[in-house]
Amino acid sequence: MNRPRIAVYPGSFDPLHNGHLDIIKRCCPLFDEVIVAVLGNESKDPLFTVAERIEIIRSEVADLAGCRVGSFSGLLVDFMDREGANVIVRGLRAVSDFEYEFQMALMNRRLNKRVETVFLVPKHEYIYLSSKLVKEVFFLGGHLEGLVPEMSLERMSLRLGSHEADDGQRP
Ligand code: PNS
Repeated sequence: MNRPRIAVYPGSFDPLHNGHLDIIKRCCPLFDEVIVAVLGNESKDPLFTVAERIEIIRSEVADLAGCRVGSFSGLLVDFMDREGANVIVRGLRAVSDFEYEFQMALMNRRLNKRVETVFLVPKHEYIYLSSKLVKEVFFLGGHLEGLVPEMSLERMSLRLGSHEADDGQRP
């Protein structure tokens, strides 16, 4: 029997936006199983904890067959080994993504020659989206409807509320 084709879609997902979701929906039919893998403890000042990011992603992918959500720290290729996965899925938005993605793909191949990286292109409406821009626009009061899932927006609003409450307590 052939081994199941297991792919990993890794990222920070802080927060998950519709460009990420679009890539997840595109890659699920291509593999037997897709693991959305949240990188833990990378940023010193994350908006959401890893557990919160996982909860948001889980609620968005609940209806997608063969999709599950996990987290990892350390090398991605080591996580893939543990999961029996040999394909990395990454979204490619623009030429500006290319150099970084190219370096990561080659380094990951160097680290484990059985690992292949597959690039998918998101829907053109999301081509300019990044988690960094999403956070900036949100905290400056811009509208993000249609660009991030409801749950990301709700959680960001809660986070904004708690930041404002914290600020109010400062002398
Ligand atoms: O969403 P991001 O921040 O662009 O995702 C980057 C990610 C998580 C894919 C990358 O930083 C990663 O794989 N980190 C794990 C550490 C690792 O394996 N580094 C060597 C990769 S070349």
